[in-house]
Parts: sequence; structure tokens; C-alpha cells
Amino acid sequence: MLRESPPLNSNNPLIGTKYDPLVGDVYTLHLARVNERRPVIASENICDTQGRLLLQKGAPVTGATAQEIVDTKLLLPIEHSIVIDNEIDGNQLEKDFIAVMRGDDILHSIHDRYSLDTLLHQQCSSYQSYPLLRQKITVLAERMPETYNRSLYCAWLAMLIAKEMRLPRQEINAVFLGALCHDIGMLHVNPQVLGKSDALTAEEWRELQTHVVIGQKILACIDGLPSQVSLAVLEHHERCDGTGYPSGKVESELSLLGQIIALADSVIAVYHNRFKPHGRSWRDVIPVIQMNNQAYFYRNFEILTTILRRSEMPQPGVVGGDGMPDFIEKFIQQQGDMKARFKRFEKLLLSFGYTHGDRKLHALQNVFLHIATSINGSGIFQNNYGEWLEQVKSKCLSQTYSEVEDAYLMLEEVSFHLQRLNRMIQIYASSGSCKDKAIQEALEAELEKESQDDRVDAPIRNIHTRLDDEETLITE
Ligand SMILES: [Fe+2]
Repeated sequence: MLRESPPLNSNNPLIGTKYDPLVGDVYTLHLARVNERRPVIASENICDTQGRLLLQKGAPVTGATAQEIVDTKLLLPIEHSIVIDNEIDGNQLEKDFIAVMRGDDILHSIHDRYSLDTLLHQQCSSYQSYPLLRQKITVLAERMPETYNRSLYCAWLAMLIAKEMRLPRQEINAVFLGALCHDIGMLHVNPQVLGKSDALTAEEWRELQTHVVIGQKILACIDGLPSQVSLAVLEHHERCDGTGYPSGKVESELSLLGQIIALADSVIAVYHNRFKPHGRSWRDVIPVIQMNNQAYFYRNFEILTTILRRSEMPQPGVVGGDGMPDFIEKFIQQQGDMKARFKRFEKLLLSFGYTHGDRKLHALQNVFLHIATSINGSGIFQNNYGEWLEQVKSKCLSQTYSEVEDAYLMLEEVSFHLQRLNRMIQIYASSGSCKDKAIQEALEAELEKESQDDRVDAPIRNIHTRLDDEETLITE
């Protein structure tokens, strides 16, 4: 059953997304690939708007048919005209959750400590009552298994935060379903953009970002699904400090459920992209969240850090005593480089003043001010920080080694944010929106310096291979 998708904010820059549920897109190609493992069958005749029969009721969606359907306007969205045999139902979903939990000792112990079995079972039963969710989740699991796995983690963590917040049952259910489906829009995004290993162009970034709008449109049409679910999916990349997308909303404009998913999604991404590959623990995400606490609802942040702190996680100790003096030396060097880079951004962005009337430039300046507030709050650029590090090194203060590692993680976070700011400046400078020639030239000069800095910095960063920043573009 379909219902009308509610209108979106007309200022939303992604509203022009090409997605049209009636036009065959890459999702049809995904269906054809799923058909190779589980039959994907037309549940009714699939016709174009001229009445031409593209696939007969009962026939499978093959590669050849899918090619014919791509870019063709259909009478009904393809997802409403097919069924998948042996799809991921509520039981299978629950089994997948349990398998994910068993694969991670820390999460498993948190799961038991908070007695989440019954709650999880209820959520999986509720999922069972939405056929389109089952279809999308099945296709996601088949075609993007890593994204599916992350969605399981995200749904589990979002459910736990909502429970600890003592939200009503319906809201816990809405946040669970939203977290589970938050990236289903990716199934309609060009796989070449998703799989690109080089840096994305501004245009590709915009395409990637459409996944939130597509996800919202799909979910908003599912009869009986609470409207909070689609809104939360739309907002899962928004940030309280206005630095997110698609609309750059600020705290007062955002829904609680969307922000629970945003926090859970970020934490899972940081852990999987940056810590897990280097053998680091869940505990390490705490300093990273601390550096970003302005981006999320404070209450959500507080609950999550309490859950992680209570989980009796081992201290990290990745660097080891012997390597610590060398590590600290490189740390101090990187801290100096980072501070100089930060000062350059400060000089540049504040030099434009605030009377230029350019909304996008204001947004960039605000992003910088938020980074500056986090840095000042952490104290990581203060002179006595360097003195403390020198002391730890010269006196071999091994009891503080884990604090040094935490501090390094905060520095890495600063690096990540400065890179993100640099990318935003790049997008702005290449968009042609800047009408002030002097500002445009100043931005371009800074981008040139940044690209040169990257080349100089690289060998220093490579020394810390175990702590290297491997943040992906998709799931920041
Ligand atoms: Fe996303």
C-alpha cells in the first residue's frame, strides 16, 4: 500500500534528486543480481507507461530484463511489483542480530547486562509486518553486506540508547526501524560512486548525499509505518551544530529519533573504520565522541558514554611501553603541524568578516567556529599539553600512557574535522557560488597550500600505521 510522500523543505539542496520511484534505476539491477541467489519474481505484469509488457507475472527479474527496465517509466514502482523468495523475515533478522552480537565480546556483554533479548525480539517481530522493509533489507544484505551489518549494529545501539532514555515503546520501535533502514537509499545510488576508492568529486558527493532523501521518500510511502521513521532517516546525517546534510538543520529543528540514529551510526562507523582494523577497542570511541559532543544531542551523548564506560572495557595500550617515547615525539610534531593548519584556517575564514551576506560562506565560518570550540574545550593545542607530553616521555610515566593514547585520538579527530572543512571549502570554491573575487582567490590559495601540506604530512602520518585515519567518505 502506498501513501503520498509528505512535502520536504523547499530549501533542501537535494530536493532536485533525480530519484523517481516510477523510473527503473540501479535498484532493478540489484534485484537481478539477488535473483541469482534467491528468486525475485514479478508478482504482477510489469508494464511501462505506454502499456508495453516488460515482465510477465510469475517471471524472474533477470539481468536482461533489468537492463530494459532501467531508465524506463513504469506504471508502478518496481518494488511493488516483485516478491523475493526466502527473504530476510523477522526470525532471520533476529538470528542475524544474535550472530553479530556473538562476534563481538563487548557488545555481547552489554547485550546481556541490559537484558536486551526480549526487546530485540519485539522489534524484529514488528519489522516482520512491513513487506517493503523486508524486501529492502534482503536486497541490502545480498548486495551490500557490510552496510547491512553496520545497520544491524546501528539498530541495536539506537534501540539501547532509546531504552536507556526511557522512551515509550512506540518510539523505541520507530528508532529501531529507522536505524535498520537508515541507508536503504544507497540501493538507488550509482554503485560506481559508492565503490570509488579515490576522493569523490563535488558532484559525486552530492549524489551520495541523496541517499537520505531517497530513503525518506521510500519509507514515507509505507502504510502504517510511523512518520517519525522516515523523518529520522532523512535527518541521520544532520548535526546539531548545523554542519550536516541535507538541510544543515540545527539542534532546535531536529528530531530526537534522527539524532539517536546519527550518533549510533557515527560511533559504529568510527569503531569499524578507524579502530577495529587496528585491534583497538570500543573504549577508544569515547575521546572521539567527546571531541564531537556539540554535533549531537547532549543527552544522547551522555547516555552513550555511560553505556560504554560501564562496559568494563580493557584499556587500549596499543602503542606499548617501548614504542611510547617515539610515539610521543611524533605526536608533538603532529600537534604542531595541526595547530599551524588550524591557525591558517582561522586567519583565512575570520578575515572575511560577517557582513558579506553569503549564506554558504557563513556556514563554512560556522563549521570552523564549532571546530575551534571543540579544540578549546579539549585543551589539546594549549602549550602545557606539549609540556605534559614531554614529561610523560622523559620520566616514562607509564601510568598515563592510556591518557596519551586518548589525547592522540582527540588530535586525530581534529585532523578529521580540518580535512572535512577543507573538503567543504573545496566544494564551495568549485560551485561558482562565491561572487567576491578576492574571497574566491583567497580560498583557492588556501586549497593549494592544503594540497601541498598533504604531501609533506604523509610520511609522518604513515609512521603511525596502527592509528592511521582510515575514515571512509560514506559513513562519517
Ligand atoms: Fe547514511
